[in-house]
Amino acid sequence: MRITKHPILGEDCEIELVTIFVDGKPIQAKKGEPIAAALLAAGIRKFRITPKDKNPRGIFCGIGRCTDCIMTVNGQPNVRTCITPVEEGMIIESQIGLGKWSDKE
Ligand code: FES
Repeated sequence: MRITKHPILGEDCEIELVTIFVDGKPIQAKKGEPIAAALLAAGIRKFRITPKDKNPRGIFCGIGRCTDCIMTVNGQPNVRTCITPVEEGMIIESQIGLGKWSDKE
């Protein structure tokens, strides 16, 4: 769900839509918005699983301080999705525990 009409910010302006892939599933996102915002708009709330107790985590602080929102982005683990802008074709994966680097490089 997105806010498309705001009493102070006005109506949603035209922003280019891009496609990103989250755990293999394509979703539409606004170019430049934080990855976490795109995931929340798509109804995705679980971003990672904690290493020790295997509990789900999602967005918490939303300003890049707590690391609850970390995911694996384009093969790089521990990316804070609340402060990382969306780019066309990003591959985003839920992170299990401490994550692993992709073997693709
Ligand atoms: S939600 Fe806290 S760092 Fe992203």
